[in-house]
Amino acid sequence: MGILKPITEWATSPWGQNVPIHIAWFLIWVCAIAGLLFLIVHSIYIQYFAKAEEFAGDIPPTLAASLPPRIPRHSLVARLFHWIMAASMFTLLFTAFLPKVGVRFDWVTYHWIAGTVLTVSVLFHIIHASFWLDFWAIWPDREDLQDAWKRVQRFMGKPAPPPRRFAKYPLENKLYHGAIIATGLSAIGTGVFMLFRVRTIFFTRNPYLFSDMTWGLMYVLHGLAGVGLIALVMVHVYFAVRPEKLDITKSMIFGSMRREFYLKHYDPQRWVVKESSRMDRKA
Ligand code: HEM
Repeated sequence: MGILKPITEWATSPWGQNVPIHIAWFLIWVCAIAGLLFLIVHSIYIQYFAKAEEFAGDIPPTLAASLPPRIPRHSLVARLFHWIMAASMFTLLFTAFLPKVGVRFDWVTYHWIAGTVLTVSVLFHIIHASFWLDFWAIWPDREDLQDAWKRVQRFMGKPAPPPRRFAKYPLENKLYHGAIIATGLSAIGTGVFMLFRVRTIFFTRNPYLFSDMTWGLMYVLHGLAGVGLIALVMVHVYFAVRPEKLDITKSMIFGSMRREFYLKHYDPQRWVVKESSRMDRKA
């Protein structure tokens, strides 16, 4: 419990036990400033220090010519999930943290409703990604690690061959997705039990479901995941609006990206364009 002390607030329960009640709210500022620092350092690095991207090998012109002008990237269902999740995530962040920094309003009802929307949409996403999408596309593979090693060596000025072009998701996206899984599922897993502490349409309120200590730790985990999501969401939005990433962002709205952008960054063997979309072009 010792390590939790500086980052949590404690109180005495009716039975005289000292229990954590939630995180210390200064962590909101710690995470917001950490997110901001990342954006500043990264944009300075890209502006003044980063070298132009370089990839190994050329794509055969015959293959390039066989591709449609727009490469399908996200299905309509995947895009709908993304935007529903984004809306619920922003609602959760604002309803949770605005009252803690002085903007007072009756936040709990909006918060549990947005929490329910996020929970249902994430359950849907897990099923959709497992059975309809390419489940393994978002997990790091051996090639990602080999290329990451080459990129680190080149970053440090050591001689190394250029990395291959990316699969559908570069390693950075995969690692980010992993961090979102950890924080998102922690917030959801704890949030679902916390619904028992407030009045909802789902079940009768039961604040005695767990001991005060267990509730306290649950609130702390919920809060830690919540502040972590402040920094993660800031970083995500920053990358989405960076000029060199706009093609990717637009594909989350319109579903597809320009062939030129695809050929420049992606390896057609690692992210295979479905035969059906090539047929569309021929038709
Ligand atoms: C993903 C982003 C989320 C963030 C940033 C977030 C953040 C927070 C924060 C800071 C609190 C205040 C806790 C405290 O006073 O110690 C809270 C409370 C709460 N959250 Fe979340 N949460 C998120 C997701 C969820 C989800 C998915 C659910 C439901 C499934 C949920 C349900 C609740 C409930 C019921 C409370 C109520 C607490 C009460 O007044 O006792 N939250 N949340």
